[in-house]
Amino acid sequence: MKGEVNWTVTHMKTADPRLTSWTWTWTWTGPRPPDSPETSRIFQFEIGSMQNLVYLVVDWSTKQAAWVDPQKDLSEPLALIKKHQLSLQAVWLTHTHADHVAGLAELMGQFPGIPVYLHEKEAFRLKLSPSFQERLHFLHDQEQIALGNQGIRAWHMPGHSAGALSFEIPSDGKAPPFLLTGDTLFIRDCGRTDLPTGSTAQMFESLQRYRQFPAETILLPGHHYREEWWSTLGQEWQESPPFQCRSAAELEALP
Ligand SMILES: [Fe+2]
Repeated sequence: MKGEVNWTVTHMKTADPRLTSWTWTWTWTGPRPPDSPETSRIFQFEIGSMQNLVYLVVDWSTKQAAWVDPQKDLSEPLALIKKHQLSLQAVWLTHTHADHVAGLAELMGQFPGIPVYLHEKEAFRLKLSPSFQERLHFLHDQEQIALGNQGIRAWHMPGHSAGALSFEIPSDGKAPPFLLTGDTLFIRDCGRTDLPTGSTAQMFESLQRYRQFPAETILLPGHHYREEWWSTLGQEWQESPPFQCRSAAELEALP
């Protein structure tokens, strides 16, 4: 595990009208997990040779957890589940490119009965046995799923892949909302749109939809392509080249 998102240090008023409530200041506690993991609602792991970021989302009031985009090596998230005696409730898939589902079948085998949530348009890439197919649950745009006492909202954000989802973990009053964006939105970049079912026009529309979240929303992408492990949407609106584009044509023309 490379780090743990930790927060609630201080907050300040801001003059930027896009920052609707508060500017938060954050600390990064990694690389070792702290002694009191109950402060963290999200654990971030970098796994595999493609810098994939895998997440465990935890509801500490019930000790329920969800596993986002299982990479082939399951060992680190499994160890965390075991260490804290978490109850794995579900797998959430941002999309089904191979590097995001390489460990899916093994994980489903280890946790019989847990559901896998994804968008219907991503199912065609999964080569699962019929009994595993039955455990797929398709989410539509803005559908909510429960994790313990939390309501998680799935956002359909096509562009990188036709059924790409972003998962919004709402604020608990102490920390801001989090957005798990898979390969649709990276720090200072968006995902490529030239793979099958990708679309630059849809990516442009998805980028506009990312503007409706609070500016303090923490962006947690599907790959560790930059030095940073996370960002805020407010910072991305200002600094990410795709957000400066005023049309799909401009987005297409980005290097
Ligand atoms: Fe991808």
